This record gives sequence, C-alpha cells and structure tokens, in this order.
Amino acid sequence: MRIDFLTLFPDLCMNVMRESVIGRAVEKGLIDVACHNIRDYTENRQKQVDDAPFGGGMGMIMQAQPIYDCYRAVEAMDPRPCHLIYLTPQGKTLTQQRAVELSAMPRLALLCGHYEGVDERVLEELEPEEISIGDYVLTGGELPALVLADTVCRLVPGVLADDVCFTEESHFSGLLEYPQYSRPRVWRGREVPAVLLSGHHKNITAWRQEQSLLRTRQKRPDLLAKKPDADPD
Ligand code: ADE
Repeated sequence: MRIDFLTLFPDLCMNVMRESVIGRAVEKGLIDVACHNIRDYTENRQKQVDDAPFGGGMGMIMQAQPIYDCYRAVEAMDPRPCHLIYLTPQGKTLTQQRAVELSAMPRLALLCGHYEGVDERVLEELEPEEISIGDYVLTGGELPALVLADTVCRLVPGVLADDVCFTEESHFSGLLEYPQYSRPRVWRGREVPAVLLSGHHKNITAWRQEQSLLRTRQKRPDLLAKKPDADPD
C-alpha cells in the first residue's frame, strides 16, 4: 500500500509516520509513505495557497489550483489507481469497517485542509471521499489524516505481528475487547481471573466472549443496538 499526504505540513505527517509500529512497517517496505507540500504547486511568487472567501466571512479558504495540481502530480507518480480522501468534519465518520476496506486499496491520497476549508470547486472536480474522525472540529486535516493512516496501516498484512492482534480487538466484530491481564498474578490485592490461569482454552475463549458482550452492554450499548446477531440480554 502507498499513502500520499497532500498537506501544508509535510514534516508533521512524515515525522509521525516514521515512528513506532507504522515506522517499522515503512522501513520494511510494507507501506510507502510520501508527503507533498501543496504550497510547492502554487503559481504565484508569494507561494500563497489561501485567499479570502467570496461573499465575505471569517478566515481564509484554500485555493483550488494548488490542490488540484498537487493531486494530479501525485496521482501520476505511480501507475496504480489512487483513492483520494478529503478529511473534513462534513464527511462520513470513520469506522473500523471502512478502515478494513481502505486497507485493501493499493493507494490512498489524503488531502488535509486548513484555514476555513477549501474552495468547493476542487472538491467538485476531484470528487474525493469525505471522511470525518468525529463530530468535533480540529484546526486542520493533518491529525485526522494521521489517525486514518494509522488505523488503515495496522491492518495491512505483516504490519502487526499476528492477524489475531486485530481480529480479537475492540470494534473488529462490532464488540469491545475482553479485559486483559499480565504479570504479576496479584497486584495490590487484585487477582487475575482464575479461568485465565487454568490453561483450559475452551473455557478461556468462552469467558472472553462473555466478557466482550458484558463490556459492550455496559460501556457501549449503542454498538449492540447496531449489531443484528448480538444477544440483547
Ligand atoms: N478537519 C477538521 N476537523 C476534522 C474532523 N473532525 N475530521 C476530519 N477532518 C477534520
């Protein structure tokens, strides 16, 4: 998979993508990451990327031309089809299910907006998928793009040690993950549940499934309501 960030802050994106689990996946060549400065595609001497909104109002609008030219240049850098995503609070909220679908695509390009938004005409022209990371507003699209890239990249085969890492975790099956414990067996008088020390794999699996359901009912009952196969009691 290849991910291109189209941004005014390429170093911010690259620095995050170089760290930790995703950074190791980039080093191993499992993911290709490139960050492009939209400002490099301006046609004016001042390298200005924004202007005041027609009709008046607060803030500045990112102009269509540098975004358009940046995307067309990025698209041409690799022959594989490129799926363009614009990070915006107006988009559909990102879900684990959509992350799974995106992780199967050969190329993603993430357009990060800034200021008060981007000129509508570039969205009409490029028709990106619009994705939000939640119903709150950030100062720019870089953090949402990094959130999306992180959740998608960890689903690319080989990035995590084992596929079980994500098939058993919260949201994969529409439920929250069961509680986890490590050494010591007793900490501040709190014991690890006996079943986990029993070595009885069937019982452990059954206990974990039950805990998953219980947790979801307690912490996120809205998830159960969305899940047609979950037992409501
Ligand atoms: N840009 C600003 N806020 C955002 C959000 N919540 N999701 C995606 N992009 C954004």
